[in-house]
Amino acid sequence: MSHFALHDGLLHAEGVPLDAVAARHGTPCYVYSRAALMAAYDDYRSALAAHGVADRSLVCYAVKANSSLAILNLFARLGAGFDIVSGGELARVLAAGGDPGKVLFSGVGKSRGEMEQALAAGIRCFNVESASELERLNEVARAHGARAPISLRVNPDVDPKTHPYISTGLKTAKFGVPIEEAPHLYRRAAELPGLKVVGIDCHIGSQLLDPAPAAEAAAKVVALADRLAADGIAIEHLDLGGGKGIRYRDENALGATDYLAPMLKVLSGRREQLLFEPGRSLVGNAGLLLTRVEFLKYGTGKNFAVVDAAMNDLMRPALYDAWHDIAKVSHGDTPPPTHSYDIVGPICESGDFLGQARDLALAEGDLLAVMSAGAYGMAMSSNYNTRPRAAEVMVDGDAIHLIRRRESVAELFAGESPLP
Ligand code: LLP
Repeated sequence: MSHFALHDGLLHAEGVPLDAVAARHGTPCYVYSRAALMAAYDDYRSALAAHGVADRSLVCYAVKANSSLAILNLFARLGAGFDIVSGGELARVLAAGGDPGKVLFSGVGKSRGEMEQALAAGIRCFNVESASELERLNEVARAHGARAPISLRVNPDVDPKTHPYISTGLKTAKFGVPIEEAPHLYRRAAELPGLKVVGIDCHIGSQLLDPAPAAEAAAKVVALADRLAADGIAIEHLDLGGGKGIRYRDENALGATDYLAPMLKVLSGRREQLLFEPGRSLVGNAGLLLTRVEFLKYGTGKNFAVVDAAMNDLMRPALYDAWHDIAKVSHGDTPPPTHSYDIVGPICESGDFLGQARDLALAEGDLLAVMSAGAYGMAMSSNYNTRPRAAEVMVDGDAIHLIRRRESVAELFAGESPLP
């Protein structure tokens, strides 16, 4: 069921017409559906239950996809853990009421300060991505009289068949350690007094539509766990990462039950805890970016709809040539003529588009919804061109909750000083 649908010619988020959101909070504005977020989390939990592994698995939402406190709080209340990649994300999780005992810390460049912060918080596991990081974490933990729980992120050299910018499990990626080197590094980790080996971690990429590469990676992880057990190193959990793709346009994106089936087949009969790090699949289709048409420009080769959202608000089209459906909010009885438009923002870059060659019946002042913008939308936004970041609202039934007010221009340069 879609939580964004047309009723009486008006696009709604749950029970709220989107023109009411624009009237109250202005545009550009991110709009999330609480029910859609809950349904996406439930899809994961139900899939794990259907496969009989619910009681030994934990869904750790990848905070980077959308780090809004309201969204983190919602997932925390549903019992989720969190996958973080910075001290900043850890602070957000704690501020949102997340349980540090369910936090995984991924990322190739953890600073000493971030390690200290995570040890003090008592996180569940550090996903260590290099030999040097093992040594640094050992030193930091010893200096604090602590033992850091670790897994090594192994790079299984599996092709996830997705966009090259979001493929992470190939040999050429900067992430993780080559799986062939893992036994040696685990022996080293087991010797270090500041570390406690607890798991194996692997994440091969994002927006994966084919479940086979994830299952292939899981098979390599399982073989490694057996090899380590033979070396006397016991593994408590297997972290299979995130990556499940969603439908942006016409992709055949599987539900969690079907997507996880081949991987869980590989993992059946095992005793380890199973950790998952989904980001996009929990939030992507639960959010849209609401924007208003400022001007229509008719050219010789192209027509443009200049809107008030831009690449600083939603970077995915400019960065990955990503497709987001773009829908009109209001469908009146006498629509203006349909033309093919590039939907562009006010930023001074030719790459500043949200969609190209879209057939739409537009008039100036119309509201547009850029769909499937819940993941890597607001989280990747910037202040380029000194544009304040958008407001964010959460719709819950008929209620509109402002979860982040629009930034003010004064806030943008509050930390700056002119030369003396
Ligand atoms: N775990 C780790 C270690 C990751 O690096 C990522 C995403 C995830 C989990 C979550 O993956 P997901 O379930 O969302 O696919 N900005 C890009 C996506 C970058 C993904 C980075 N890592 C985009 O807009 O498509």
